Amino acid sequence: MSELNKIALKILSNGKGILAADESTGTMTKRLESVNVPSSPENRLLFRKTLFSSESMKNCIGGVILYDETIKQTTNSKQTIPELISFSDGLPGIKVDTGAKVLAGSPEEKITEGLDGLRERLKEYYKLGARFTKWRGVYNISNDYPSKLSIYANAHALARYSAIVQECKMVPIVEPEVLMDGNHSAEVCLNKTSAVLEKCFEELILHNIDLSGIILKPNMILAGANSDKKISGEEVAKLTLKCLKQNVPSDVPGIAFLSGGQTEIEATENLNLINKNNDTNFIMTYSYGRALQKSALKFWSKDTKDIKGTQTIFNHRANMCTLAAQGKWSIDLESK
Ligand code: G3H
Repeated sequence: MSELNKIALKILSNGKGILAADESTGTMTKRLESVNVPSSPENRLLFRKTLFSSESMKNCIGGVILYDETIKQTTNSKQTIPELISFSDGLPGIKVDTGAKVLAGSPEEKITEGLDGLRERLKEYYKLGARFTKWRGVYNISNDYPSKLSIYANAHALARYSAIVQECKMVPIVEPEVLMDGNHSAEVCLNKTSAVLEKCFEELILHNIDLSGIILKPNMILAGANSDKKISGEEVAKLTLKCLKQNVPSDVPGIAFLSGGQTEIEATENLNLINKNNDTNFIMTYSYGRALQKSALKFWSKDTKDIKGTQTIFNHRANMCTLAAQGKWSIDLESK
C-alpha cells in the first residue's frame, strides 16, 4: 500500500467524509452577506473554527479542505488551524487552484487556472500541515457544452495538477464538476459526465498518476435544476453508479461527492441510496460544502456567540452524512 493510498483511506474510511470549507474569500463573503454577517477575516475564522472544534469532527470528518487564508490563521490559544483539525484526527487539505477563468477559444466556458508556481506553493502548504489538495474543473451543460475543448483542457490541467501534488507527497482531490444549472434531463447529465470522466482518466493515466493515491470528487447524476423531468433518489443512485462503474478505474480508492446545490436532505438521501446499492469496491462518501454548512451558518448568523448551538446543528448534519456514507440513514433520523 503506497503512502498516498494510506492518506486517501484515512480520510475516507469508516463512514468519514470531507468538510469542504475552502470557499474563496469572494464566495465566503457572498455566503456571509446572505445571512447579514459582515465578511471580516475574524468572522470567517470564527465560523470555521466553530465547525472545526465540533464534537462530530472526531467520528465523521476525515479531512477538511481549507482556503489559503484559513490554513495560515491561528486560534486565540495560538493553535494553528491545521493543528486544530489534527486534534480530532482529521487531515488538513488545501484548495490550490486559483479559480475558473474564461476559456479562450470557447468564451462561454471555463478553464481552471493555478499551475504556475504550484510546486512552490505546495511545499509551503505541506510545511503548514496539508496532506491533500483540491482542484475543481467546472463544466456547464447545454446543447453545445461542454465542448471537446473544455473537456480536453480541464482534464489536462487536472492531470498536470495531480502529478505535481503527488510529487509533493500529497493526495490530489480530482474534482470535475458538471454543473446542475439548466433544464437538461438526467440522461444528458449521465452522457456529458461520462465524457468528462473518461477524458480525465485518460489524461491522469498519461501523466503517470498513482490512481490509488487520488480521491475523485464528482457530481451525482441529476436532472438539471430547472428541468421538469426530475428523477427519484433511486434513479439518481442507479445512474450515478452506472456512470462511475463505466468510467472510473478500479484502482481509485474512493469517491467523495460534491453537493453542488442540492439541499442538505437531498444530498444526504442520494448518498445513502448510492451506498445502499453500491456494488463496487469504491468507498462512496461526501465532500460537501453547502450541504454540511448551510443550516449551521444560518443558525450562527442569528447569534455569532452561540458556539454550542451552532455546533449542535453542524454535528447533526455531519452525523447524518456519515450514516448516509454507510447506507444507514433514514429520514426519521432527521427529527431525532
Ligand atoms: O468545490 C466545491 C466544494 O468543495 C463543494 O461544495 O458541496 O457546496 O458543492 P458544495
